[in-house]
Amino acid sequence: MKTYLVTGGAGFIGSNFIHYMFQKYENDIHIINLDKLTYAGNLENLKSVENRKNYTFVRADICDREAVNKVFAENEIDRVVHFAAESHVDRSIRDPEIFVKTNVLGTLVLLNAAKAAWELPDGTFSEGKKFLHVSTDEVYGSLEEDGGYFYETTPYDPHSPYSASKASSDMLVKSYMDTYRFPANITNCSNNYGPYQFPEKLIPLIINNALQGKKLPVYGDGKNVRDWLYVEDHAKGIDLVMEKGRLFETYNIGGHNEKQNIEIIHIILDTLRDMLPDGDPRKKLVSDDLITYVEDRKGHDRRYAIAPDKIKKEVGWYPETAFEDGIRKTIQWFFEHEEWMKNVTSGNYQKYYEEMYQI
Ligand code: NAD
Ligand code: DAU
Repeated sequence: MKTYLVTGGAGFIGSNFIHYMFQKYENDIHIINLDKLTYAGNLENLKSVENRKNYTFVRADICDREAVNKVFAENEIDRVVHFAAESHVDRSIRDPEIFVKTNVLGTLVLLNAAKAAWELPDGTFSEGKKFLHVSTDEVYGSLEEDGGYFYETTPYDPHSPYSASKASSDMLVKSYMDTYRFPANITNCSNNYGPYQFPEKLIPLIINNALQGKKLPVYGDGKNVRDWLYVEDHAKGIDLVMEKGRLFETYNIGGHNEKQNIEIIHIILDTLRDMLPDGDPRKKLVSDDLITYVEDRKGHDRRYAIAPDKIKKEVGWYPETAFEDGIRKTIQWFFEHEEWMKNVTSGNYQKYYEEMYQI
């Protein structure tokens, strides 16, 4: 039985990954979820797995060396899947420091703990151990509107404090692979969407606001392009890279699903109108008139687009969920989890929203 240390497992992608892994491997794996439970971490996301014998939750900060070392000392960890991060670009523009602490220093603490636990006296590493560093396509910078893709060989060119901190963490992982032959992979994924996504990000924010008849903030001209991937496809990609990816390699994950932000908003509005039954009072609130152009994000990257050729060729991954299906599943999930949305948007979220948007 393999033991996985998942960091940031109470967040959006981490919790989806944990659900995916238990569905796939059932009782053949043990997952230890180490999470600080910041505003983005939510144990509600893991209610259905919390009583499993092969699931353990540890509340800790990845920057806390003692706490992280203790997890390695008390468990025979086979795999680290490192999600924990500050993940929102807008927050990084307002307060960069925590991004460097968590994303850079936290990654270093984890690398050192795994290296100390896995390194043999001759400087090689125990067979079968792997550290998978979950990163983002934002490290590659911004593409022209009319062409080009991010390949694994594209030079790093981060623009926001968030992407700079993720690029730094990638560089640290690369340096451990090059210097120590530390057994790792890096994955750089495009924009995810799906269940449990915190409504500071575009898709859940638009769904939540539209259902309440609140304005829908569009940055700049709304024509920035993102390459959207259903979160379960990301989880599958991570699992495949973990099992079949060549050590020391980077894999881009993304699904040739480029859309302008304004297109995404129109798709959400149309899908909501289609899915809400006649007579549901929310149907009247969902209107194109809610679209509100606001000041652009500072340093706003124009276009992201992943070339997933390598991950397809080497590990056989491809995106299985078409956007039209993924967005319906996501909206359906939000319909069925109104309480979840109410809980995460009460308290501090209101303060964040008012300071951020002023609309
Ligand atoms: P998220 O913000 O939803 O979740 C982050 C999780 O990390 C939360 O549970 C939080 O409590 C935890 N965390 C934060 N700081 C911590 C610390 N110091 N110690 C321990 N836990 C801490 O993020 P997400 O969207 O699920 O992203 C997960 C990872 O995937 C990140 O590394 C992000 O850079 C990367 N990524 C995200 C996307 C995307 O579209 N969301 C795309 C590509 C890559
Ligand atoms: O590309 C991968 C990245 O995708 C991840 O590394 C990040 O963790 C994740 O947050 C996401 O970053 P983005 O900045 O692309 O996602 P976000 O949902 O914040 O914004 C998507 C696009 O929508 C972007 O062009 C900004 C725009 N936007 C966003 C918000 C929140 C708006 O126009 N209005 C909004 O209110």
